[in-house]
Amino acid sequence: MTANAIRTKYLKFFENKGHKIIPSASLIPENDPSVLFTTAGMHPLVPFLLGEKHPAGTKLVNIQKCIRTVDIEEVGDYCHHTFFEMMGNWSLGEYFKKEAIEFSFEFLTSSEWLGLDKNRIAVSVFAGDENAPFDEEAFEKWKSLGISEKRIAKLPKKNNWWGPAGETGPCGPDTEIFYWTGDPKETPETFNDDNPKWLEIWNDVFMQYNKTKEGKFEPLAQKNVDTGMGLERTLAVINGLDDNYKTELFWPIIEKIENLSNQKYEGENIRVMRIIADHLKAATFILGDEKGITPNNTGQGYVLRRLIRRAVRYGKNLNISSFTKEIAEVVVKMYGEIYPELSKNQNFIFTNLTQEEEKFEKTLEKGLREFEKGTDPFILFTTYGFPFELTKELAKEKGIEIDQNKFNEELKKHQELSRTSSAGMFKGGLSDSGEETKKLHTATHLLRRALEIVLNEPIIQRGSNINAERLRFDFGFNRKMTDEEKQKVEDLVNQKISESLLVNKVIMNIEEAEKTGAVHSFGDKYGDEVSIYYIGDSLEDAWSKEFCGGPHVSKTSELGKFKIIKEEAVASGVRRIKATLS
Ligand code: ALA
Repeated sequence: MTANAIRTKYLKFFENKGHKIIPSASLIPENDPSVLFTTAGMHPLVPFLLGEKHPAGTKLVNIQKCIRTVDIEEVGDYCHHTFFEMMGNWSLGEYFKKEAIEFSFEFLTSSEWLGLDKNRIAVSVFAGDENAPFDEEAFEKWKSLGISEKRIAKLPKKNNWWGPAGETGPCGPDTEIFYWTGDPKETPETFNDDNPKWLEIWNDVFMQYNKTKEGKFEPLAQKNVDTGMGLERTLAVINGLDDNYKTELFWPIIEKIENLSNQKYEGENIRVMRIIADHLKAATFILGDEKGITPNNTGQGYVLRRLIRRAVRYGKNLNISSFTKEIAEVVVKMYGEIYPELSKNQNFIFTNLTQEEEKFEKTLEKGLREFEKGTDPFILFTTYGFPFELTKELAKEKGIEIDQNKFNEELKKHQELSRTSSAGMFKGGLSDSGEETKKLHTATHLLRRALEIVLNEPIIQRGSNINAERLRFDFGFNRKMTDEEKQKVEDLVNQKISESLLVNKVIMNIEEAEKTGAVHSFGDKYGDEVSIYYIGDSLEDAWSKEFCGGPHVSKTSELGKFKIIKEEAVASGVRRIKATLS
């Protein structure tokens, strides 16, 4: 069975059961600053699980592209991936446990659908604790479908509870479905979740609680179902493969690596080739997403950078270099039809991969020289970006001892710092709503409009990031700005500051909002109601109008003096301006 056959069957099955098919959301969460990437299909649906009305109704189904980076170091086994597709069906206050379990069982075992063997299925249900009771309903339902008690494990929260995706939000007990992937004749009578041959293939979550900031589990007004079935695993299981990388969703990439390296997918190469394939597929999808994320040192960009660099570094084990673009070409070819954003953004993907690869090659050369000089491994890592594993290998060759504990301790401190510095930077790119950032945010709107006037073309925001010291604004434009243009932009912004224009907000429905001529950010999706910030006396005659969540100062004279510090390229067709207020 092909991946596409499974995708189609899944959507069709749930469509037949009254579900509406909705598209995959972006890999970058829209309104959830608590996580870097969309990690599950339920993620973009959080507001609706909490009770907001979804425009498509109360029963939904889709295939969501996801990125999970918690186990980045664990990638390399047969079934964990950074990028994966999650098939999911949802009930928003509609059906609950009984129907959800029936649907899953029918889809998995009916010969009309996946036709898996009933006798190789086992499940787990929530055992109960101080927050929520034993899930007797799920337990009884499975029994009624013919699953023997020995194949129903009752497990604690650690295993059978899902969510929230961030710190707070919807969550609940779940029932997980496992399939025996070993020899069918040896299917054990009793389920044991320690045996990896029992592979988890589907998770039905009963989202009936909201976890609060204080750590309390409050019952939700509506009882929801959230399910997730990994496409890559399902494909492997259906085709009787014990390695997801041997499925059509990975094999073309592995073959490309084999060709480039002139080596086979065997022995020690297996792990290395899996890591390269996984990381570059994920990097291709992150770059191909509409948000224009590029490799850098914080947030999503940092994850992207790590993925590319790890792939390049593992490429060394196979003696390959300058290969990231060639792998990405394979990925775009495999997925371009289902995820058209990949084809659309392919040049952006290829340019950024190649640039980052070249940069990292230089880093490696420099790091090697520093290593020869005896520089501390931690400095090598943080200052020169030189991977610790490489330092260890080099040290081993030279018979030098490296203090792993010291390195780990320093790393932990460092990671905590970078986590705090990246945690607060989302929600429209604002680190907090302090006075300085508010001013810089208003200045960003003035800057965008001034660019439009001086460069005489529409300026679309490709990214924005503000900290207490400066603003950073990325926009679509395909050449370097002249000194004269920069000066003009700066002067124009300062003129508008001195005019003490009012900054106002209106909320209206999206159709009306579109008519006002307010500008969007690149790739942003908006709901039915949007807020517009305009600078000037009235919405009609405003000097600047943007779809924006705020916050902003109330008049431009609060801003002080505006200065452009830097104008540079970040990717082909994307320029970046850094500017300050003083
Ligand atoms: N949200 C659930 C999961 O990711 C379905 O497993």
